[in-house]
Amino acid sequence: MGESTGKTPETLRSARWFAPDDLRSFGHRSRMMQLGYDEEDFRGKPIIGVLNTWSELNSCHGHFRERAQDVKRGVAQAGGFAVEMPSLSVDESFTKPSSMLYRNMLAMETEEMIRSHPLDGVVLMGGCDKTTPGLVMGALTAGVPMIYLPAGPMLRGHYAGRILGSGSDAWKFWDERRAGNITDEEWLGIQGGIARSVGTCMTMGTASTMTAITDAMGLTLPGASSIPAADSGHQRMSTACGRRIVEMVWEDLGPERIVTDAAVRNAAIVAMATGCSTNAVVHLIAMARRAGVDFTLDDLDELGRTTPLIANVRPAGKEYLMEDFFYAGGLRALMKQIEERLDTSCVTVTGKTLGECLEGAEVYNDDVIRPLSNPVYHEGSLALLRGNLCPDGAVIKPAACDPKFHVHEGPALVFDSYPEMKKAVDDETLDITPDHVMVLRNAGPQGGPGFPEWGMLPIPKALIKQGHRDMLRISDARMSGTSYGACVLHVAPESFVGGALALLRTGDTVRLDLPNRRLDMLVDEEELERRRAAWTPPEPRFERGYGWMFSRHVTQADKGCDFDYLERGFGRAAGEPDIF
Ligand code: FES
Repeated sequence: MGESTGKTPETLRSARWFAPDDLRSFGHRSRMMQLGYDEEDFRGKPIIGVLNTWSELNSCHGHFRERAQDVKRGVAQAGGFAVEMPSLSVDESFTKPSSMLYRNMLAMETEEMIRSHPLDGVVLMGGCDKTTPGLVMGALTAGVPMIYLPAGPMLRGHYAGRILGSGSDAWKFWDERRAGNITDEEWLGIQGGIARSVGTCMTMGTASTMTAITDAMGLTLPGASSIPAADSGHQRMSTACGRRIVEMVWEDLGPERIVTDAAVRNAAIVAMATGCSTNAVVHLIAMARRAGVDFTLDDLDELGRTTPLIANVRPAGKEYLMEDFFYAGGLRALMKQIEERLDTSCVTVTGKTLGECLEGAEVYNDDVIRPLSNPVYHEGSLALLRGNLCPDGAVIKPAACDPKFHVHEGPALVFDSYPEMKKAVDDETLDITPDHVMVLRNAGPQGGPGFPEWGMLPIPKALIKQGHRDMLRISDARMSGTSYGACVLHVAPESFVGGALALLRTGDTVRLDLPNRRLDMLVDEEELERRRAAWTPPEPRFERGYGWMFSRHVTQADKGCDFDYLERGFGRAAGEPDIF
């Protein structure tokens, strides 16, 4: 891709709408005047779409109405014209049956909103888990200059002198409540103290992972992903995004020059070093494929084996939260620590190289951001498995599980549905040992439906009462980035479409061999063939609507769960319609 020579007012994309002396452009100009603008407000200026995923049911984005104003201020300062556009607000807490069902809807909406409107560049406002990949995937395909504005993590949780981490402490104290170790009053106190401000989950969950990945790819202002939502620096960063996107339009600095093979690799290395969410696997692959980068599970595993985990941030780290990570220097400081492993020639939204953006970055607390000589875990955050139970792959987070499960063999206890599993784990008389391997199937992209975060299967009450807090669990579901434990996830192909997991039976022996990256059921091939021949597909989950479309077109976890028809023209911006 050659260097662009930049844009002029005549060659702006929006000029197609507003410049010609014809009837259609007359209509566009008169409708802008209807909105209260004179021609000098918008003609010949970069028109910047501020794609805002604010909603009153998205607690993580509660500050986005104000931040959109900050972005618009910056756009105006730089001589552009900003228009705020609402975007699908896929929030993690309230969206059912699964927010993942709607990531692709946001990606489609983003792509189509950009393409169908007179926009020269966009600022993408997201942060709550699926909003980051959804916005980025769509904007990559639309292909106009873009900056990602991450919502920023919320402040640390607090209750009774104790610091609480999003998600992780909810799971932990829920188990204690089930064991009868905390009172209702304490439980209510935790409920009120665990989410104290606007912003995304402040553990290194999916939100912080995905914004870090986007930052490392060069799509945010440098280090923007680490700034807490409630910090005044977040407001200033928002205004700076507005100023910078106008310059990017004049420079014609599009995402095709930023999201290269090397940038995706950088992002994956950074993800491994931060203790990333397992969801990073699915989203990073999907984002890369939209940019034409054929990044695979095997690439991730290779980087996972060679990249130490150095961010001591929960849940993979033992101590700290995102607020501490910011005070310790944030993502720029972490990237500085691993600079020699990164391709620092990559261009970022600043127009500078990554190396230039890391100049002066420093670690202020080397227990939070560790040196390579003292990592939290000697390998990266994720490991990818293969075997007769997961021919197309599965993922596990080794640092977040008890090492005694890294090599484990035990009898399977298989559940076909979440309600069936839930009933069993609440049964105090359940016949189960800590060596058992709990399995949940029909929880993948099609079976869930929508690939829900059910993969951290609750430890059965019968074992909780005996003091056990971890056991080997396997599913074709995902799990929250704030979760932890010996959970094998994303088994592909999923059981709902006849993957090998569908053939497993209660009592079969399952073997996990993490050092050799294997996951197998110890059942001979002839018997598996008999079971395969007897397997019948379940009834479809949806008969109509978006869910029907999702089920017919979603790809499996190892391909990023994008829609198959959106991958046509793999890796190229989809281009402008001929008819205008
Ligand atoms: Fe929004 Fe966790 S619920 S980031």
